Amino acid sequence: MVGIDHCYNIADLRRAAKRRLPKGIFEYIDRGSEDEVALAHNRAAFDRLKLKTRVLEDLRDLNTDVDLLGDASAMPLAIAPTGIAGLCSYEGELALAKAAANAGVPFTLATGSITSMEKIAEQARGRLWFQLYMWQDEALSYQLVQRAKDAGFEALVVTVDAALGNNREYNQRNGFSIPFKVSARSIIDMLRHPRWMVSVLGRYLATSGMPRHENYPARYQHRIAFGSGQAKPVRQSGMTWADIGRLREFWPGKFIVKGILRPEDALLAIEHGADGIVVSNHGGRNLDSSVASIDALPDIVAAVAGRATVLFDSGIRRGSDIAKALALGADSVLVGRATLYGVAAGGQRGAEHALKILRSELRKTMAYLGCTDVSELTPDIFAKTAPVRRETIETLPSQE
Ligand code: LAC
Repeated sequence: MVGIDHCYNIADLRRAAKRRLPKGIFEYIDRGSEDEVALAHNRAAFDRLKLKTRVLEDLRDLNTDVDLLGDASAMPLAIAPTGIAGLCSYEGELALAKAAANAGVPFTLATGSITSMEKIAEQARGRLWFQLYMWQDEALSYQLVQRAKDAGFEALVVTVDAALGNNREYNQRNGFSIPFKVSARSIIDMLRHPRWMVSVLGRYLATSGMPRHENYPARYQHRIAFGSGQAKPVRQSGMTWADIGRLREFWPGKFIVKGILRPEDALLAIEHGADGIVVSNHGGRNLDSSVASIDALPDIVAAVAGRATVLFDSGIRRGSDIAKALALGADSVLVGRATLYGVAAGGQRGAEHALKILRSELRKTMAYLGCTDVSELTPDIFAKTAPVRRETIETLPSQE
């Protein structure tokens, strides 16, 4: 079995995660929605962007440090909120939070996580953000936000792009759902991954019992594993900008709205008090016909014009992707899958490895581009693409 020391990039960590995790869990974190066009398109849009090297710049002071929402970060990256890190690894959210702290970057804990926010706040000493999905019973959501406030979370990240859920047919096909359904298929899936059974499920059973959504209100905190048929809190489908305004008033810390793909929505977020927005198509996990997040970024950056922090996610698998997003105006990226693969492959050490890989790739990309500071990542790093060249040719003075 290949250990994480033999994982040289995020794709290697993905393969290691795939071997370890039950198929239902792996596909849940890895795949997109419907025909998975958005998932592929996010990557294709990055690959299309070509860079021009700049040579013979003095690179001795090269560093990836940034000011991110008023505090230092060791690179322009934060860990994105992802629901089931705690099923990828024992107390996976804590492992991610500690890995982020050691790497000097923020960690975002999701509403749907398994480790409680109080435990994360107590045991991980880094920068902590909390992600919220608003429930129909708003009082329950406000209780959750109050808990995050009491636990000292620095920022609230409100996800606004998934009110009615999503269409992930493979999860229906492979029988995966939360709570797990007890079926021959799901049992066989788990039995075929004995390491996961022992090191994840087994450890929960030996300590805190069957994993549960520790951040849910008590009455919804039933077991995630084998708890089928139990009530889940329903997401608020009537949420509007007025709710964003109210949450903003309630939350004393930094306030981020996640899931923006239009300049006009970015402006509304700022109008309603957001300190930051996340340009995101949810990693290609929601609207399958969505524009690639990276293609939506430049217009949003232009509209925001420095009035809020612009975060970016969806498709970051290499350090060069981070450089491209920054050059197109993002202040920082979020990564979800990259560190999930890491934590699934090797717990906290695996997540640290993922962050190390991305940082080292970003440094190398900056070196190729002759940049010693991330502020030097500007649109001039891009080679003109074919359509631009054609236009240039068409506008050349005629030969006559
Ligand atoms: C997801 C939702 C729950 O992407 O955020 O799975």
